[in-house]
Amino acid sequence: MAMRMTTDARIKIAVQKSGRLTDHSLELLVRCGLSYSRGKDQLICYGENMPVDVLLVRDDDIPRLVQEDICDLGIVGLNIIEERRLELISQGEKELFSEVGTLDFGQCRLSFGLPAGVPFEGPQQLQGKRIATTYPRILADYLKRNGVEAQIVAFSGAVEIAPSLGKADLICDLVSSGSTLRAHQLYEAATILESRATMIQTPKALVGEKARWLQRLLLRIQGVLQVKESKYIMLHAPRSALKAITALLPGSESPTIIPLEGRDDKVAVHAVCRENVFWETLEQLKEAGASSMLVLPVEKMLA
Ligand code: PRP
Ligand code: ZN
Repeated sequence: MAMRMTTDARIKIAVQKSGRLTDHSLELLVRCGLSYSRGKDQLICYGENMPVDVLLVRDDDIPRLVQEDICDLGIVGLNIIEERRLELISQGEKELFSEVGTLDFGQCRLSFGLPAGVPFEGPQQLQGKRIATTYPRILADYLKRNGVEAQIVAFSGAVEIAPSLGKADLICDLVSSGSTLRAHQLYEAATILESRATMIQTPKALVGEKARWLQRLLLRIQGVLQVKESKYIMLHAPRSALKAITALLPGSESPTIIPLEGRDDKVAVHAVCRENVFWETLEQLKEAGASSMLVLPVEKMLA
């Protein structure tokens, strides 16, 4: 086990151990073709068919693990990336991790939560207030940009109890469904950061075989994200309506036009749509003259 860890040729990816990003992150890697076995301690997933290992860690540790080149890649929320980025910059650190791309899960917001019944009239209202948060740097940055001075009460968790304990007037915390806020008689007043799961990469350049594998993995990730939205659509179209019909196909570049045996007036149109195809689109296509429509999911895609 330790042997494999020290082999530098393997790509190490840091993923949240347990939380909102865990399942989606592992699923993404599996869809990229990775099969793995989980170590006894459950903290490392060893890739069996690719030189890729997944380290399951606390999400707050992920930016540091990647910035210090202990892991080559990390999947973590933009909220945590941003907080850590501001911290590193304030420490004069030059070599940060780089953001490779935004993923399609882990959507949430960093927002102000105010006690129910207290209206929010804009940033100026925060002047002199006590705000509890686990994101002191993002909050400080926001207050500074808005020319407001407030007292930041730093918490390491369970921020939502601060107002009822009398420790803060309001909070600044992550909101997803909003149920945590509601359960504590708070409401979401304003958002200061929209967050999503994001892939980050070590500042150190990778070389050789490892660099090639990283490139392959990143292309596969792109492919996985693309196919989720993509559909393959087939339909029959009157030649006279071909232009109108192809214009209606969402996010498709150049459809394939195939003649229909024994028909001069109609052709078959096959196209990859890079956006989801909804019922409304099919109805519009029908209106434009299309018939025999078939929409299929796309399994894999490689540019
Ligand atoms: C955040 C936040 C709330 C909860 C909000 O914590 O601190 O507790 O999510 O989600 P909701 O709007 O769906 O109720 P998170 O799960 O990120 O855990 P952590 O802060 O301990 O990392
Ligand atoms: Zn956390």
